[in-house]
Amino acid sequence: MTQTAELPPEARHETEDFATLPEISRDVFTAPLKRPAHVGEDWLEPAQTRYTSQDDAIWDDLFARQMNVLPGRACSAMLDGLEKLDLGKGGVPDFGRLSEELGALTGWSVVPVPMLIPDHVFFWHLANRRFPAGNFIRTRETFDYIQEPDVFHDVFGHVPLLTDPTFADYMQEYGRAGWKAMRYNRLKALGALYWYTVEFGLIMENDAPRIFGAGILSGPTEAIFALEAQSPNRIMLNVDRVMRTDYVIDDLQPTYFVIESFEYLYRQTVERDFDRLYRSLGPSFTYANSAVIDVDNVLHRGTQEYHLRGGRGSGARPV
Ligand SMILES: [Fe+2]
Repeated sequence: MTQTAELPPEARHETEDFATLPEISRDVFTAPLKRPAHVGEDWLEPAQTRYTSQDDAIWDDLFARQMNVLPGRACSAMLDGLEKLDLGKGGVPDFGRLSEELGALTGWSVVPVPMLIPDHVFFWHLANRRFPAGNFIRTRETFDYIQEPDVFHDVFGHVPLLTDPTFADYMQEYGRAGWKAMRYNRLKALGALYWYTVEFGLIMENDAPRIFGAGILSGPTEAIFALEAQSPNRIMLNVDRVMRTDYVIDDLQPTYFVIESFEYLYRQTVERDFDRLYRSLGPSFTYANSAVIDVDNVLHRGTQEYHLRGGRGSGARPV
């Protein structure tokens, strides 16, 4: 279904003031989260958690595991960021020190939140160059996989790239774009763009795809699967196509999208008319997460063997 109807006056209202939380009409929320009593309207925790030596050891072990697989696979901006912020110095990083160092580089800070936070608050923080990071770390029992993003996923996976000036600007603009997507009721489409870039994106470097998505960077299996397995598609990113594409939240991705550069990503997203795009998008996804379509510039057409054999739940090998 194509949305061509004129928007009501309140939906056309635009504001560039990101100093206060946006007022969003209630009907855009489908599943509001329950805010814990001790966090503010901005969903920030009063302070960063004090981590135990066991917690710090979990960070160190996760860090060491990823560094076994990421050199040669992660993009250079991520590996440079890790070094600039000295994230491997031992233990869960202190957000105060991290924010100071990141602030000096690109003006971003890292703020602690208790859990996944509502979309409009998340966007508001990004628009103000604050990255909300989980104020907890996984346990030994959930060492290999957790669905809720913890401090390792958020800080190890996301924060290094915020040292890259272009990517840092992209993230801020993404936060600003969130507001518009909510007004057009096309959050799902913008969420797909986030998913296929910030969480599971690949980037060309020296004529080969490298990883920049935090969801891939923070786990060992997907870091290899995304680049080397025969199962998934690898397709050059086209924003209109990606925003129409479904995705998997609890398993390896059937398709990865590849960008030419962060400048390219910035130009393709920030510098285009999203009002027109939202009006042309239907309310649900058009393409399955494993689809290859005529307009795709395909680097690798996947066999989809892993998903056809049943994916994570079946114990299928990620080949
Ligand atoms: Fe994430």
